[in-house]
Amino acid sequence: MSAAPWTIRRLHAVDEAQVEALADVLIDCVEGGASVSFMHPLTRGRAVAFWRRVAQGVAAGERALLIAEDAQGICGTVQLMLDLPENQPHRADLAKMLVRRRVRREGLGAALMRAAETTARDCGKMLLVLDAVTGGDAARLYARLGWIRVGDIPNYALMPSGELCSTTVFYRNLTDLF
Ligand SMILES: CC(C)(COP(=O)(O)OP(=O)(O)OC[C@H]1O[C@@H](n2cnc3c(N)ncnc32)[C@H](O)[C@@H]1OP(=O)(O)O)[C@@H](O)C(=O)NCCC(=O)NCCS
Repeated sequence: MSAAPWTIRRLHAVDEAQVEALADVLIDCVEGGASVSFMHPLTRGRAVAFWRRVAQGVAAGERALLIAEDAQGICGTVQLMLDLPENQPHRADLAKMLVRRRVRREGLGAALMRAAETTARDCGKMLLVLDAVTGGDAARLYARLGWIRVGDIPNYALMPSGELCSTTVFYRNLTDLF
């Protein structure tokens, strides 16, 4: 079996070149129609500002940031929000799961999810929660990986082009990884 064309690692500090590369990934996903908190068109300024805030959260230990890199640079990313209320120290929210269009449907999304689950376990987390556009590529991925579908919330958010979309909430109990 040939090795994956990417490597996945956790960043404990994010430099300016990585902020720019992550902005490219985010812009690519929004241009592709992904509902990931931003409206189209996503300017470079807004994307860079977002990743600078993420970098601050990473430095503060409030977020775990994973990146996937191939020969062309950063091609995917996912985050764990670790800084939750004091009565939820055992869980994290998974967010901003992004794969560049040029490397989709090669298994990177699944690999990032598995890496995020392992990272969460290594941080002592036993439960992960996320939401995804109902019936979208991401929701299908999470269900395939064994995440449990809680239910749908109609009209939860806007797609980048402006129409309302429903979101599906999922959770993953990590006790099988311990
Ligand atoms: C959702 C997303 C992360 C999936 O990333 P991905 O790298 O394409 O994920 P995978 O390759 O693991 O799986 C995607 C599909 O490719 C298929 N696939 C995986 N490896 C494959 C291979 N080697 N050959 C052919 N197909 C393959 C999977 O079976 C899956 O098929 P399905 O969609 O029909 O169920 C990506 O589409 C994305 O970034 N979307 C935009 C951002 C977004 O919506 N993020 C989610 C926020 S909640």
